Amino acid sequence: MSDEGTALPIRVHLCLLRSAEIQELRSAMRSLGDRRLELAGLTTDGSDAARHVAASQSDVVIAGAELFGDDGGNGLVAFLTDVQALGPRAIVLIEVWDQDLGDELERLTAVAAVEMRPIDAGRVLKRALAIGEAVRAARIRARQQETAAAERLAERLAVPPAGRSIVCVTARKGGIGKDTLASNLAWAIAERNVPVLLVGGDPKDDLAAYCGADPAPGVAAFLRQPTRDGFASGLQRFRNFHLMVGLADDHLAAQWNSRFDRDEPNLIRELLMTARDFPYGAVVVTLPTEYSHWRFQPLARADRILYVVTPAQADVVNAIRDITMVRRDVGPEFMPEDRLFLLLNRVRSGDRRRLTEIANVIAEGVGFEVPLIGTIPDAHPYIAVAQSRGELPHSWMIDELEPFRVAFDDLAERLGLTRPRIPRQDGDGRRLGALVRRVLRGLGREGTTADPTATSSAGELPA
Ligand SMILES: Nc1ncnc2c1ncn2[C@@H]1O[C@H](COP(=O)(O)OP(=O)(O)OP(=O)(O)O)[C@@H](O)[C@H]1O
Ligand SMILES: [Mg+2]
Repeated sequence: MSDEGTALPIRVHLCLLRSAEIQELRSAMRSLGDRRLELAGLTTDGSDAARHVAASQSDVVIAGAELFGDDGGNGLVAFLTDVQALGPRAIVLIEVWDQDLGDELERLTAVAAVEMRPIDAGRVLKRALAIGEAVRAARIRARQQETAAAERLAERLAVPPAGRSIVCVTARKGGIGKDTLASNLAWAIAERNVPVLLVGGDPKDDLAAYCGADPAPGVAAFLRQPTRDGFASGLQRFRNFHLMVGLADDHLAAQWNSRFDRDEPNLIRELLMTARDFPYGAVVVTLPTEYSHWRFQPLARADRILYVVTPAQADVVNAIRDITMVRRDVGPEFMPEDRLFLLLNRVRSGDRRRLTEIANVIAEGVGFEVPLIGTIPDAHPYIAVAQSRGELPHSWMIDELEPFRVAFDDLAERLGLTRPRIPRQDGDGRRLGALVRRVLRGLGREGTTADPTATSSAGELPA
């Protein structure tokens, strides 16, 4: 439905009302005669009420309180919560002797108004009109904000990464979906025929489990031998991309932690620089949650930092704190304004209209806009269903699910990654490129300023 401008009538849905009330409201609506209100739908069955409201695309719902079943009002609260998530606001009709329920409802759900029975139909409709117009105006504002945000995102993404694109997936909160998102993103990028390397920057090594990868030297190979050869020997192929993860081995994890954190925090940066020597179109890195020194190193090397957050309020607050803290205590170059994006995970249909609001809250909290680069649906129901049928061996498989797939394909598209250009096999140019990189490396600012034409001396991916 298009509701540009407020010229279109406000759509009112009548839900579980008594027949006398329905008649009164309908005749009052007719006698209003100015076509500012129209009946969007009439629901008399409580079991599927929220779905009916969604289907009728209404602005205001007028609902009777007591007909939502015998479960002490739970049915009503659930209905109102669903309706609110869908967008319309509700006017609830209650009995005078249930006045207390009115306060309770306003506390539990965002009910726009409570009206006592017996109703004055004209008065109820007047309120419906005012509420509906406010809903419309808010919706139009949200749409304008969304369009403006999309334009700003496109502008920011229009600046192509210098050299190979390094995409870091990070978040301070554990279990928020970093590995799930990074592995699915790597897969979606590879589907677009762009060579991609997925690096598991977390000794915890969930990526290997999600991908069902074999134990392999992985990042540890580079730890032992921080050279091109060491790098190549740590790679393994998974499906259609290269994978380089740590090892689910306590000894190695400890060694990794101490070498990366205490002794050589810059080694992980070296690893990414070495990856840049190979013609990957993208290197996707997941980072651990802990506040170790080396966790931050890849961030300063990333062309795109995807900060994972969910619509839950606590996660939004966490994200604001983390981004602010990193910028203040570690350095703004580790969460740079121009390379930081939000990736929203576990989004449900009811969250969709809150997306702009979430981005606004984060922008206000951190003091600059962090554009929303993608939304990934909550795949939980699918996972649960498939697992119960024994069809889903591990979480990697959620990539087979359509909405999930589409979300990652969109994200890969938005990142605008392309196949790297095959370099000219020109000896002098190569030597010059290597020299420039060595000098820049010495200056400690080799990353994003790397010569984009400087690639693998072989110009090929390891087999
Ligand atoms: N969009 C989603 N829908 C359903 N389940 C999800 C989604 N994203 C992540 N999960 C599930 O949440 C759990 C945690 O995800 P994951 O391991 O990717 O998070 P993480 O941030 O890497 O965690 P950690 O901080 O422990 O390393 C996994 O079981 C994963 O299947
Ligand atoms: Mg993880």
